[in-house]
Amino acid sequence: MKVHIIGGGNLGASIAIGIAKFTTNNQVTVTRRNIAPISHLEDLGITITTDNKHNIQDADVIILTIKPYQVDTVLAEILPAISNKVIASAVSGLSIENLQNKIGDNHSAVRIMPNIAAQFGASATCIAFNEKNKAQAQATVALFQGLGTAPIIDEKLMDAATVLAASGTAFALRYIRASMQAGIEIGFDWQTALAISAQTVKGAAEMLLEEKGHPEQLIDRVTTPQGCTIAGLNEMELHGFSSSLIKGIKTSLKQIKG
Ligand SMILES: NC(=O)c1ccc[n+]([C@@H]2O[C@H](COP(=O)([O-])OP(=O)(O)OC[C@H]3O[C@@H](n4cnc5c(N)ncnc54)[C@H](OP(=O)(O)O)[C@@H]3O)[C@@H](O)[C@H]2O)c1
Repeated sequence: MKVHIIGGGNLGASIAIGIAKFTTNNQVTVTRRNIAPISHLEDLGITITTDNKHNIQDADVIILTIKPYQVDTVLAEILPAISNKVIASAVSGLSIENLQNKIGDNHSAVRIMPNIAAQFGASATCIAFNEKNKAQAQATVALFQGLGTAPIIDEKLMDAATVLAASGTAFALRYIRASMQAGIEIGFDWQTALAISAQTVKGAAEMLLEEKGHPEQLIDRVTTPQGCTIAGLNEMELHGFSSSLIKGIKTSLKQIKG
């Protein structure tokens, strides 16, 4: 596939690197106005350019990873140069209906919500599209399946997906930071504490994804009666561990919905 990514910032560059490293037979072009910060992408065989229309007529999918207020400017620039394209947008808050109205019936709108772990082939990319664009969306789904998981969801849940999968990266990192800080208090230097905390989270996540069970089933396997783990867990819950996370996620969702 020829993949044309407009907006080579945090997300756009991550997707480009992920495609180059974790998928085969895909050619990637990334655009932004100032390409200096992403010049290293060329080492991976990625084309970088300031020209949003560079070979865009050959693209199989155009991915928008720009801010919401940049969408109209970019579309005004590229639409006269393309026909019959799949335009996959990661732009937060831009609905399929709005995007389809902006691009016209000649193109197929797909909504994607990846996260920056795409760079490591480990994104949870929620994807939504209208039934009439199902066939056109399949290549995009396959592309993001190569960058982690790519569940197809009802568009009604896209804001929730933004919070759980995109903001969720920050929430998970904050958990790791807190664990690392505790690790320093109990005797490790920060590098060792971080390595242990991050690997422990990775291991826990891998067990869950592999076994597809409920977290409490795994927790039960590491909590000995009267042991240190259950004592720590109960103390954390007393201080609002789960409830603060749930409240934070619901607050993020409220913020998106305005
Ligand atoms: N970051 C995430 O984890 C994440 C996850 C899911 C969804 N999203 C969504 O993805 C979008 C991008 O987020 P981000 O965090 O990657 O933002 P970002 O780092 O600011 O990236 C946006 C990029 O767009 C480029 N750009 C701006 N105007 C342009 C134009 N006219 N033509 C081409 N490129 C242009 C900017 O570079 P120049 O200024 O050099 O042009 C910038 O590098 C947002 O809508 C965000 O809500 C982000």
